[in-house]
Amino acid sequence: MKKLVIGELEAKVPIIQGGMGVGISLSSLAGAVAKEGGVGVISAAQPGFREPDFYTNTKQANMRALAREIKKAKEIAGGNGIIGVNIMVAVTNYEGFVQCCIENGADIIISGAGLPMDLPKYAQGSSIKLAPIVSSVKACKVVTSRWLKKNNKVPDLIVIEGPKAGGHLGFKAEEVAEKKDNFDADIKEILQYIEEFSKQVGKKIPVAFGGGVFSNEDVKHYLSMGLDAVQIATRFVATEECDADIRFKQAYINAKKGDAVIVQSPVGMPGRALNNHFIKDTVPAGIKVTRCFNCLVHCDPKTIPYCISKALFNGANGDIDDALVFCGDNVDRINKITTVKELIQELTAE
Ligand SMILES: Cc1cc2nc3c(=O)[nH]c(=O)nc-3n(C[C@H](O)[C@H](O)[C@H](O)COP(=O)(O)O)c2cc1C
Repeated sequence: MKKLVIGELEAKVPIIQGGMGVGISLSSLAGAVAKEGGVGVISAAQPGFREPDFYTNTKQANMRALAREIKKAKEIAGGNGIIGVNIMVAVTNYEGFVQCCIENGADIIISGAGLPMDLPKYAQGSSIKLAPIVSSVKACKVVTSRWLKKNNKVPDLIVIEGPKAGGHLGFKAEEVAEKKDNFDADIKEILQYIEEFSKQVGKKIPVAFGGGVFSNEDVKHYLSMGLDAVQIATRFVATEECDADIRFKQAYINAKKGDAVIVQSPVGMPGRALNNHFIKDTVPAGIKVTRCFNCLVHCDPKTIPYCISKALFNGANGDIDDALVFCGDNVDRINKITTVKELIQELTAE
């Protein structure tokens, strides 16, 4: 399979492991993926949630933990592959996370859940690679034009995220249903725009697609469409190296068809998660938010249905019934835990 080239960086296998917060993709998973020649991505969503001073010193705890996870992932990777960090646009202290990535030697920042309009400004003067996540040609046009006009910056990679992805989605709930099994035309339209834009700026921009990529055939299908890589998350949860609690992985293995549902998240976007006790019973009954972690720029603890940080911490700690368990649309197809090496071999076999 062709390698993924991002400027002077090279990943031997064209697989990006999608960032997964909170605590699902940290150094163990990201390092293992990079070691096999792919792009391993650490999530910057509350990375310090296990630090002893997290509740009293949240910002510093997050920075300390992210710095440590980047260094650990690089050590595990042993000079192979690429180490990235996923930063959600909606988080507070976005600029601080960007600086932390630069200072600690991350290779690339991949940023979505909103359009990362100011990412180049925060990363100015650094050679770190920058990649926006987009779900439509309109979003792609907006972010590429803005970066070029305001910062004279061309994305080093663009990730297209489709409606089958896990976590937050860049679509309205009704669009998800409409486009779920019918997204290739949208991908082609975005690819065509990126090709024209690349010609205009005189720089090749590699493009990845993520959302429901499950099998070796899927990988081949998207590469044959002209994509340079695929971004995969759900399948990497069911690996030994994934940083999630074993009960989180087990919940994926137990999932049946129809268990992945669209939920409204306090981030203000729809998301895809398992339809568990938390979604079916706890949220509709109403949850009083007693503690605010100040994690999102636009969040009012008085009006949100639940605290997303708390709901995601519960998942990371294995308290699955009381958690928001993000997952991709194909979660029911997962039936065993494997290793990152085996999974990458399966996905990339010729
Ligand atoms: C458990 C989980 C957590 C996720 N968290 C994030 C996140 O913090 N930021 C983000 O941009 N995407 C997040 N995603 C989306 C993934 O990075 C990825 O793009 C998407 O899930 C790919 O689709 P797939 O899961 O079908 O492979 C998450 C996905 C999952 C399954």
